[in-house]
Amino acid sequence: MARQSKHVHRQALVPAVIAAAALVGGLLAGGGTSQAATQGPCDIYASGGTPCVAAHSTTRALYGAYTGPLYQVRRSSDNTTRDIAPVSAGGVANSAAQDSFCAGTTCLITIIYDQSGRNNRLTQAPPGGFNGPAAGGYDNLANATAAPITVGGHKAYGVYIAPGTGYRNNNTNGIATGDQPEGMYAIFDGTHYNGGCCFDYGNAERNSRDNGNGTMEAIYFGNIKVWGYGSGNGPWIMADLENGLFSGVNQHYNANDPSISHRFLTAVVKGGPNRWAIRGGNGQSGGLSTFYDGVRPNVSGYNPMKKEGAIILGIGGDNSVGARGTFYEGVMTSGYPSDATENAVQANITAAGYATGAAGTGLTPGTSVSLRATTACCTDRYIHHTGSTVDTAVVGSGSSATEKGNATWTVRTGLADSSCVSFESKNVSGQYLRHQNYQLHVQASDGSALFGQDATFCPEAGRSGQGTSLRSLNFSDRYVRHYNNTVYIAANGGSNAFDSTNAYNDDVSWAVSSPWAS
Ligand code: AHR
Repeated sequence: MARQSKHVHRQALVPAVIAAAALVGGLLAGGGTSQAATQGPCDIYASGGTPCVAAHSTTRALYGAYTGPLYQVRRSSDNTTRDIAPVSAGGVANSAAQDSFCAGTTCLITIIYDQSGRNNRLTQAPPGGFNGPAAGGYDNLANATAAPITVGGHKAYGVYIAPGTGYRNNNTNGIATGDQPEGMYAIFDGTHYNGGCCFDYGNAERNSRDNGNGTMEAIYFGNIKVWGYGSGNGPWIMADLENGLFSGVNQHYNANDPSISHRFLTAVVKGGPNRWAIRGGNGQSGGLSTFYDGVRPNVSGYNPMKKEGAIILGIGGDNSVGARGTFYEGVMTSGYPSDATENAVQANITAAGYATGAAGTGLTPGTSVSLRATTACCTDRYIHHTGSTVDTAVVGSGSSATEKGNATWTVRTGLADSSCVSFESKNVSGQYLRHQNYQLHVQASDGSALFGQDATFCPEAGRSGQGTSLRSLNFSDRYVRHYNNTVYIAANGGSNAFDSTNAYNDDVSWAVSSPWAS
């Protein structure tokens, strides 16, 4: 214990010094937010006079000088833990340390440390108005390898929130309470969401219960329509203010809050006395747009606010655990950040270089590939078809020309999304891999939007740490997986036999190989 509190104390001092230095730098520079290359988002917030009071990320340091732990993993083989730090001050997480610690076993993310020095770390959420699914009613912890990406070309892992997963801190330091002003942003996977309550990051109740309107102020992301919603079919960035997800001043519909689903989505919510805002943008390029900026909702109980200052991730204020999503980084500030400060933070985010890691996987439209299984059982098997039936089959140099062609795919620009890909049979032109009832088949396109979506897969870094994983475009928690030599789109831990967690990450990681048929 003594060692731990000393450690926390040292952590507390470093960002305070950085913040002061950044603030002085900002003042000397005329109060602007111009930044050195080594600045992180929290240096920018500090320069703007609204310092971070919580800074969470499993992917990178959020201060230019931060060298402390980013997160902790626990492995199942012996229940020991390991802190994962940036590779260098202000740098990307040392994912190689996680990979070697977790090799041959599975790891969970047990702590997401607070880089602000206030010890507002996130740990397994306790039971609340709703009990979690794990023993004792606690929420589940995230699988540490379930959200691999790259930042600036370096592999890192996000926090993959499956329904039932949640993190919380009910005993925080420096987080806004009552009607005090605060800001927050988070980077989410804009393609991973659902209509459950509530994938949130931000300010919530200290007793994990619904304490009434205005007792929360968190970023929400998803497509639930029970409370508020915006234009289109979602997903939307909204503010969870308790007993209501707000997309603007009205309780339900606000036309200016758009559906938004960038693969790396920057989501912003801020609130102070009778003013709040929703902003958002693409975490890979461009700036932020403002979707709402105005007075508190025209519903009683939200002005003044009664914020309590706990912090949640992946759950609702009362520990509702029905939602899914993926979190990469996020902060909460003291004070209401200016739009200019947030714009500078967005520039820092886009410069960091978030990517799926698919570049270089060899899935270039127009080329041909074979897709080899990487699970130890099956490394001689390839995705293959016989007519419309898809399986994994052993293919080798002695296989017939027909069999080689049946295990070869021409990569096409995704039929329903040009940033993803489709796979056309080498042997039967015009016929594509598509899923139907979650199983893969080879079929000719009927020209429908549904066929296009069913036949479009988004490549990501292999979820096992090797190869490439292929995420279904229209079922974003499902990846192409072999199971008993049949090929499905499978969700890790879903309700079908082929969703089994056993060997899931290996089964969904494919080696993109030279084509058997040229
Ligand atoms: O405000 C929406 C949700 O309502 C909150 O997250 C939860 O506490 C309540 O069920």
